[in-house]
Amino acid sequence: MEATRENWGSRIGFLLAAAGSAVGLGNIWRFPYMAGSNGGSAFIIIYLAFTFTIGLCIMIAELAVGRRAKLAAVGAYKHSSERWTFAGALGVLSGFLIMGFYPVVGGWALAYVWKSTTGLLADPGAIGAAFGGFITSPVQPVAWMLAFLVLNVVIVAKGIAGGIEKAGKILMPSLFVMLVLLGIRSITLPGAGAGLAFLFRPDFSAVTGTTFLAALGQSFFSLSLGMGCMITYGSYLKKSEKIPSNGLIIVSLDTGVALLAGLAIFPALFAFGLEPAAGPGLVFVVVPSIFAQMGGIGVVLSIIFFVALTVAALTSSVSLFEVVVAYLIDQKQIPRIRAVIGSGVVMAIMGALASLSLGVMSGTPIPLLGVGAFDLFDILTDKIFLAIGGLLLAVFVGWVIRKDDLRAELTNDGAHTFGGFTLWYHAVKYVIPVAIAVVAVVGIISIEQTALMLLGLLVIAVFALFSRRF
Ligand code: TRP
Repeated sequence: MEATRENWGSRIGFLLAAAGSAVGLGNIWRFPYMAGSNGGSAFIIIYLAFTFTIGLCIMIAELAVGRRAKLAAVGAYKHSSERWTFAGALGVLSGFLIMGFYPVVGGWALAYVWKSTTGLLADPGAIGAAFGGFITSPVQPVAWMLAFLVLNVVIVAKGIAGGIEKAGKILMPSLFVMLVLLGIRSITLPGAGAGLAFLFRPDFSAVTGTTFLAALGQSFFSLSLGMGCMITYGSYLKKSEKIPSNGLIIVSLDTGVALLAGLAIFPALFAFGLEPAAGPGLVFVVVPSIFAQMGGIGVVLSIIFFVALTVAALTSSVSLFEVVVAYLIDQKQIPRIRAVIGSGVVMAIMGALASLSLGVMSGTPIPLLGVGAFDLFDILTDKIFLAIGGLLLAVFVGWVIRKDDLRAELTNDGAHTFGGFTLWYHAVKYVIPVAIAVVAVVGIISIEQTALMLLGLLVIAVFALFSRRF
């Protein structure tokens, strides 16, 4: 089977696909509102610190593990030790759970392409209320979520080089240009200074134990780490590619886009007198508000922005989808098309529940857990599974895989040097597991959703017990 394994079509194709996986709603939708509701600059500093230490090291580790085994998440763990298979399986579960709410937000982005053309911008004062009305209605957002999911099914069904790679190549650069333009507009609005201060003047008074966990979770979510996604993408990577430098490029691009999104949103937010802690509606309210002030050209720019946002979401969601599908193909010998359609149906049901949990079902949270489906999927993955997934990967790489094998993988069998190898190795082996454990424990203790956290830990324990079944 190794001989027939798909490969990325080109170096730039892999980079764009991996960056496409990393850059998504996590950067443009989630990062601004997480920063906004966790105190702004202090959160951003912690997030940046985590990203370029733990995040970068785990990125390199995941790519190396995937390429070494030439297998997706579960297979890559199993390749070394059956006892570790559960860590990969936990990643597949995370992929499923994230795909339970991600397409809901992807659907909002798609809907806003359409809404931009149908009068959304006509009344700037009503943009906030329109968003609230839209996401809580029972039919529309579910229909858009399904439309978004169908796009995913089509791309993932086509496989790696043909679908995922092509989509990323064209549409990622256009998103970048849009964000730069928006940022310039935002910064030049009268009253934008307060937004810049919010972003860059550190105020550590808002920092608590959960801020660290939130920043770590956001870092992992944004970089597509902690669930085997980069293991899977690494498994399609050619032997001649340099993993450390590719890893650094992906991390830098991802961080750059998140900061650009922050620059596009916060100055405008303060200029318009909106609330930084507005939550998940932030981009969907602030960005149309900027465009609404621009007249006719605003409509055109709004369409372009939401097309680009949809595409960014799509190049990320296909990578999540691919983790699930690659597991079914590699481990369960299910043909790609069947794997895609089968898991797509389950994701559609989860997505419908997540969407409805924001509207008609918002009065009936899940018993004991006290949250709706959207928050359940989000909190379970972002606040626990991704962090624990990263911790397990670090322990696996540091203590199970042989050091010489890692060195060979990261230097392409000595074809070039990786100066940071020793530092990276010790970080992954000793520092990162402890650091994640501390952040997780402190965060989990201080978080409000105790029952949910216990459920998450229980799931991990059960997975570990049945590791050989996956
Ligand atoms: N990183 C993507 C974003 O920022 C989302 C994503 C794709 C992801 N693959 C992932 C998150 C794997 C966690 C794990 O939108």
